[in-house]
Amino acid sequence: MTVAADSLSEETIRPHLRTRVLGRALSVFPEVDSTNRVAAELAQAGAVAGTVVVAESQHRGRGRLGRQWFSPPGMNLYLSILLDPPQAPADASSPTLLTWVPLLAGLATAQAIHTLTSLAPRLKWPNDVRVQREGHSRKVGGILTEVIGGTAGVPRVVVLGIGVNANMPADIFPEDLRTIATSLLVETGRPVDRARLLASLLLNIEQWYARLLQHGPSAISEAYCQASETLGKPVAIILQGSRQVTGIATGLAPDGALQLKSPDGSTVEVRAGDIVHLRA
Ligand code: BTN
Repeated sequence: MTVAADSLSEETIRPHLRTRVLGRALSVFPEVDSTNRVAAELAQAGAVAGTVVVAESQHRGRGRLGRQWFSPPGMNLYLSILLDPPQAPADASSPTLLTWVPLLAGLATAQAIHTLTSLAPRLKWPNDVRVQREGHSRKVGGILTEVIGGTAGVPRVVVLGIGVNANMPADIFPEDLRTIATSLLVETGRPVDRARLLASLLLNIEQWYARLLQHGPSAISEAYCQASETLGKPVAIILQGSRQVTGIATGLAPDGALQLKSPDGSTVEVRAGDIVHLRA
């Protein structure tokens, strides 16, 4: 399938921006190693919260758990956003809001895709954005959150990186991704306007982030749980060091950790790892 190329630039993105803060400082590059790395460098040079870095391609795109993120030119979204670490409201009992940032980003991404396409993506905990077709779900977007600074007078900054497979034809995917990943183009048969998708995504993040600051995790958890394809399912989670826990995913802890009911009836909370949805 040939797809008419659209381009991402300040000129194509700005007319669609409806945000108050996110993307007001915007840098768009033809190619970078990783937008997360560039955003971190900008933060260290004094870039303000809300700065957004977009690239048409990445030659060292980073994924979760040390993986690479496949980032060919001119067809997908690769962006990173600088955020101040969220502070819990004064009266809140919640221990941390930071762990909710990647979760809200997954939700915001799924909703932006739904706004621009006929798709209704679901979230695999913690923040894989996936599309279901013919009984299979395939990954269409991912989130990588990194926290930098916090030492020797350098303020702590959250770098929120998001990748969405937008207009990538099926034959471009590397062999090892073909059965587990997909793109909006593959799923709908139509190219998406990437500038609009980006603008919608930024607006959603800004709004969810504001709700998180104002109301705490309860502002997000219900919408997140509704979009989850993990909750209610039997899962196996491969932890670091290849230890594995299994159980039924029952809910989210106050910090966004996944709660599992394990076979012996106890509840286990998992904060990181690779999750496999088992057949019910
Ligand atoms: C995942 O493994 O699911 C996370 C993928 C995150 C990829 C995005 S693309 C833009 C940003 N820059 C990076 O190097 N990674 C993130």
